[in-house]
Amino acid sequence: MKGIVLAGGKGTRLLPLTKFTNKHLLPIYDRPMIFFPLATLRESGVREVLIVTDGKYLADFKKILKNFPGLKISFALQKKPDGIAGALRLAEKFAAGENIAVILGDNIFEANFKKDVCEFQSGAQVFLKKVADPERFGVAEIRGTRVSKIIEKPKNPKSDLAVVGLYFFDKNVFDIIRKMNPSKRGELEITDVNNFYLQQKSLICSKIKGFWTDAGTFESLAAATKLVREKGQK
Ligand code: G1P
Repeated sequence: MKGIVLAGGKGTRLLPLTKFTNKHLLPIYDRPMIFFPLATLRESGVREVLIVTDGKYLADFKKILKNFPGLKISFALQKKPDGIAGALRLAEKFAAGENIAVILGDNIFEANFKKDVCEFQSGAQVFLKKVADPERFGVAEIRGTRVSKIIEKPKNPKSDLAVVGLYFFDKNVFDIIRKMNPSKRGELEITDVNNFYLQQKSLICSKIKGFWTDAGTFESLAAATKLVREKGQK
């Protein structure tokens, strides 16, 4: 499986820090944020990774990742932020028809996904984690024992299961994104992509073990730093 790290966006929730660098180069304890999603992909068995980012801090990304062990890393540049699915479009050539593991550059996982990567064949797969503040995330609505729908940042979440920022897709994902319309906030939403697979009955939903957090707000950045410091890192 090939890996894609999405590391664009404006990082407005971390202003003023993101005035002088990209969010994903900010430190979590003793290393840049982007080291974590890269390590998660590597430990899950991925060897080739594309980082999608805007061009502004490309030289810094390259400097910091020059000797990153165990991965062949390349870059794709995003001209304007238009959502996670929008950024993913830039990876079509890189994916070259293979299955892909897409990870958000500000997601910090304790677990690795080696088994899931080995077992994934086709369709799509999302990962769920119980959280205290589901309204900040994509949330899985449950009917019986199954996920019936994913709602992006619901005001009144129907469950406490957040859809975390790691997704597996087969090659059809690019055709699906091409047919999508932007959401009310003008973005191509990854949640719409996942709901499409869900309606086709080809979405696997798995719960994850270990800690998980995003690091895109000051609160979550501080929580991530604390967790990494306490648990040690990969
Ligand atoms: C994004 C996704 C959301 C997901 C979250 C995980 O939200 O849109 O579905 O739960 O990442 O970190 P964002 O953090 O970009 O607002």
